[in-house]
Amino acid sequence: MTDRVYRIAVIPGDGIGKEVVPEGLRVLQAAGERYGFELRCDHFDFASCDYYEQHGKMMPDDWKDQIAGHDAIFFGAVGWPEKVPDHISLWGSLIQFRREFDQYVGMRPVRLMPGVASPLANRKPGDIDFVVVRENTEGEYSSIGGRIFPGTERETVVQESVMTRIGVDRILRFAFELAATRGGHLTSATKSNGISVTMPYWDERVEAMAANFPDVRWDKYHIDILTAHFVLNPDRFDVVVGSNLFGDILSDLGPACTGTIGIAPSGNINPERRFPSLFEPVHGTAPDIAGQNIANPIGQIWAGSMMLDHLGEAEAAAGILSAIEASLLRPETRTRDLGGSADTTTCGEAVAAAVLDHA
Ligand code: NAI
Ligand code: MG
Repeated sequence: MTDRVYRIAVIPGDGIGKEVVPEGLRVLQAAGERYGFELRCDHFDFASCDYYEQHGKMMPDDWKDQIAGHDAIFFGAVGWPEKVPDHISLWGSLIQFRREFDQYVGMRPVRLMPGVASPLANRKPGDIDFVVVRENTEGEYSSIGGRIFPGTERETVVQESVMTRIGVDRILRFAFELAATRGGHLTSATKSNGISVTMPYWDERVEAMAANFPDVRWDKYHIDILTAHFVLNPDRFDVVVGSNLFGDILSDLGPACTGTIGIAPSGNINPERRFPSLFEPVHGTAPDIAGQNIANPIGQIWAGSMMLDHLGEAEAAAGILSAIEASLLRPETRTRDLGGSADTTTCGEAVAAAVLDHA
């Protein structure tokens, strides 16, 4: 018996979330077997539009008590616009997790995988391998502001950006620490030439934080030219850190540069572990292909790898990544969105088998 036991709250949500989460779990269980740890999973049907139809809300009132004690949340995707408007389903579930569990790090690996055609010409696997780290709780996405003189000539709207020293420093510390464990290079997204109060402050805090990490090389780019470099020179990056708005944009642009939305994972992390962190694929519920067992489960499976990394099972996390790479190389274990012939289950089974095989 192992003493490495993790309690996982499993929330599949809607649409293809319900098809890819079981494949993610299949691979996680294989990793547990192979690397000697145990996952104890509790399954929850809330944070879904079916739950909303039955109860008139996305989650029970005591949702926090039900999952706050878990070591992590393994999440599929939420939303079914035909049944429930997106702002209700997302704000009633995912956004609650991020806020109430102080998941202030949004983390997205950007890696060009074998078997996946990059939309960027002449890039091969290995050329692109970086991580976008997004501040997830403050910055430009504040609710401070308002509208006065509505409907008149003097109609005026104001919305404030909020940066706190605590909020900025903690995301920078996370990003520098991550860079120190990777290639030792950090890039900061700024716009201090245009946004003349908050962004110079951000730059100032980057410089102060950098002093604690003498082994990490760092640079900064204005967000406009940085987006161009993502496309033109993606090989330049290792860890890229940005405010809520810049991080949001970069964390969609990055994965887009590596091919398909079906394989990209994402972590919403509370690094202090006071609350559970949440791991999910980048994609949504894909109503257009749901129920057919054809969705690509790799984004969900990769999210499982990130979850294991967070739980301290680095070797198992790397093992899953190698297994993903192996399965992407073979057309018969790739799903259709990648030009393969596998269905969701076949793909999940192939990755699980590769995890068990991996010496
Ligand atoms: P989507 O990501 O669900 O789908 C976009 C397109 O990509 C569709 O054509 C879909 O078939 C395809 N696709 C997505 N994942 C795929 C996979 N694993 N394999 C193969 N093809 C895949 O985005 P969309 O259509 O804008 O949103 C649908 C619903 O999902 C909405 O209710 C939206 O609010 C929700 N959503 C939820 C997210 C979350 O839970 N974090 C994130 C994004 C959207
Ligand atoms: Mg986004």
